[in-house]
Amino acid sequence: ELAAGAPSGFLSIGHRGASGHAPENTRLAMDTAVRLGAQWVEFDVQRHGDTLLVFHDDRLDRTTDGQGRLLEQSLETIRQLDAGRGETIPTLQEMLDHIDRRVGVNIELKSFGGTAAAVASVLREYVDQRGWVPDQFLVSSFHLRELREFRRLAPMIPTAVLLCGVPLDLAACAAEIGAVAINLASDFVDAELVADARSRGLKVYVYTVNDQDDIEQLRACGIDGVFTDYPERAVFVDRAA
Ligand code: G3P
Ligand code: MG
Repeated sequence: ELAAGAPSGFLSIGHRGASGHAPENTRLAMDTAVRLGAQWVEFDVQRHGDTLLVFHDDRLDRTTDGQGRLLEQSLETIRQLDAGRGETIPTLQEMLDHIDRRVGVNIELKSFGGTAAAVASVLREYVDQRGWVPDQFLVSSFHLRELREFRRLAPMIPTAVLLCGVPLDLAACAAEIGAVAINLASDFVDAELVADARSRGLKVYVYTVNDQDDIEQLRACGIDGVFTDYPERAVFVDRAA
């Protein structure tokens, strides 16, 4: 029940923005997530030469009017594509310059080989020269070696280990990298893993959860937040005492 009170500690994280309502990974999707109450937004970043693009797939076909592999098309071609409702594929910098500064920004490093270095350099500039604070960012990746490289280059910026499975050593990999959170696929929410993460002081966020009952169940289990295409379904307030 929605009632007056402080926002709960549970995070509604707009997955690729509010991708259930607007074209994923676009500026419109981020604006929509903010409007629907998301406290954080997530988007995917890939390196294309010297440019960091906000884009999820290897191929252009599913989400744009273009065709073929992202990395095989020229930047000029990519930048002219329609990513839905007239939106274009933004660079990381364009996305950051656009986003409402009240939300946290989870940047998922999708590509590897130089992505960490390029993103670290951009985020350091946003922190050092543009007034962003490190805690406004959370950088995550399935590519744990890339994430470790990011930590080395930008140790002030919080990181999260992305998991799609339960590692044999449970949450130890996140602790080793110095991450603050584990972002776990919903199929692998496991009591032992969650307890181990907790005991190491790590937050646990679960992706991608769109069903209202599932979201409420995860919240009741003590999960710290969910990635959802429908951020309004994960917004809760704690009743004033
Ligand atoms: O970061 C959580 C989630 O976005 C990971 O999976 O494929 O949606 O990028 P994917
Ligand atoms: Mg992602």
